[in-house]
This record gives sequence, C-alpha cells and structure tokens, in this order.
Amino acid sequence: MNEIYEEVVEKLKSVKSLSDLDTLKAEYLGRKGKIRKLFGDLKKVDEAKRRELGRKLNELKSALEEAFNKKREELLDQVEPLDPSMPGESWYGVGTLHPIYIVANRILNVLESMGFDIGEGPEVEEEYYNFEMLNIPKYHPARDMQQSLYLNNGKMLRTHTSPFQIRYMLKHKPPLKAATFGRVFRADEFDATHSPVFHQIEGLAVDRNISIGDLKWTLERIVEELFGKDVKVKFLPSYFPFTEPSMEVSVFYKGKWLEMLGCGMIHPKVLENVGINPEEWSGYAFGIGVERFAMVKYEIEDIRMFYENDIRFLEMFKSERWI
Ligand code: DAH
Repeated sequence: MNEIYEEVVEKLKSVKSLSDLDTLKAEYLGRKGKIRKLFGDLKKVDEAKRRELGRKLNELKSALEEAFNKKREELLDQVEPLDPSMPGESWYGVGTLHPIYIVANRILNVLESMGFDIGEGPEVEEEYYNFEMLNIPKYHPARDMQQSLYLNNGKMLRTHTSPFQIRYMLKHKPPLKAATFGRVFRADEFDATHSPVFHQIEGLAVDRNISIGDLKWTLERIVEELFGKDVKVKFLPSYFPFTEPSMEVSVFYKGKWLEMLGCGMIHPKVLENVGINPEEWSGYAFGIGVERFAMVKYEIEDIRMFYENDIRFLEMFKSERWI
C-alpha cells in the first residue's frame, strides 16, 4: 500500500493538466481502478486479517483522494485569471460597413440628436405622392427633371425621397421633424457620375415660426459632421416645385465649391395638400444625395465604385467610424 501511495505521488509530479489528472485518478480510484480491485481481493484474505487490511485500504483511498484534490487546487491556481480591464481585440477588419451607409448613418445620427423622427417610405410609389402632392402636376416641365421608371401596374419607382414628406405630414400633425434614408430610381445613364439607383436622405420640419435660419443651421451641422468645423457653406437660389424659395447648398472643400444638396421652405401649396394651414405653420425641407456626399468626402471619382463591391475598394473604409 505504501508503494502504491509513493507511485501516485511520483506520477502526480508530472501531471500538467486537469484532463491528465482525471485520467490518472480514474486509473487508481475509478470503478475499474486499482484500489477497487484491491478491495475485491480482500475476499481471498484470512478473516482474521481482513478487518485490519480493509481499514488500511480505506486509509490509502482517503490519502489518495486528498493527494488528487491537492493537485487539482494547484492546477486551478495556475490558470491565469481573466482580466476584464485588458484592451479588447480589434474588430475592425472583420467586415466593413459600406461607405454609403457610413455617410448615411452619420447624417441620420446628427438629425436624430436634434429630435428628428427617422422613418421609411416605399420604393414602389404612386405618382400621386411622387409628383402631384409635391406640386408637380401632369405635363409640368419639372417632371422632365427626373426621368421616371414606371411599372406596368400603374405605379412607379420613386424618383426621390420627397414623397416621404407627404406621407409623413398626412400621418402626423405639426409641430413635426422627420427624416428618411433610402434608394431612389431614375432612367439615367450608368456612367462615372450617374447611376439609375442611388440614395437620398430627406428631412423636413414644420412648426409655427420655422425660418430659413433654422434650415441653414441644421444643414450646417450636417455638413460639419462630415467635412469639419471650418468648412465654408453657401446657399444659392434654385428651383424646385415643392419649395419656395428653393436653394442649393455648396461647400468649399479641398479648394473647390461643390454643389451638395437641394433645400427650401416647404411650398404653401404642399402644406395645403396635406391639410396644414400655411398661414399658421411653416416648414423647411431638404434632400441630400448620399453618393454625392460620399464622393466628395472620400474623393471617389466614379459613382460605379459604390455598386461593384470590389473588396479592395470596400476595405478602404475599414477604419472609418461606423456610426
Ligand atoms: N427631391 C429633390 C431631388 O431629388 C431634392 C430636394 C430638393 C428635396 C429640395 C427637398 C428639397 O426636400 O427641399 O432632386
């Protein structure tokens, strides 16, 4: 019995893992282990000696259990404790967010922080919302500004996100502030600067004393978020049937004035169309071309880069802030 004990103590010295420990323990103390076998052998011993040997065997069993437990504690102490204050592994590069979404998320975050309600509108739209309600009647020349794609069920693919304004104002009473992000469709060429599918962000606000100053302040915050605090912004007169006055915003970036978006004060007729009294309420609206923002910000010369999903292009945005 002493030999067995010494043998185990010796073998335990070279045990390095919990699984090795379990294997060794089973060899001695398991159901088919050496100790169990010795207990079985007790039958063969004279009755006079059996009692004595049985007691000793029990002592050996306890001593071995103790030795195994001690070794287990030792091994557990060696496992390095988890330090939750260690810096985590970087997850950049596991995947990337598409540059269109990076830019859109940043703009939407600014709007959300100002209390804009972020909503959605359908891509398959009624002419009524895409045009009529926005003060673009049939045969109005402004319809030619946007080459529309019609479906054979009488509906169309929205040419801009502006119908969101109508849908939102029909559902919500002023004061209101809302924005949406989504795809728009036009029967356009597919070349370096045109795509038949692209993305817009539409925003609108209606309240009792909304002015061009509010519009200007809001758009300046958006431009700043992407192009920095020192960027110069200017507002130029323009024309859209659903705003009066209408403006274009240009940004002076990397030595050039670049036209970035359209905006204006919501036309009184549009407010009337959705049952809002233009004598009591005023509002502004703006439409941002997300590709346009992304192309200027990241100096991308060809709009087709966004849709080809070339992994080398997408990987350029690995280290960008995601939101
Ligand atoms: N819907 C216009 C377009 O796609 C962009 C636009 C201009 C939206 C002025 C607006 C706005 O809300 O006020 O060309």
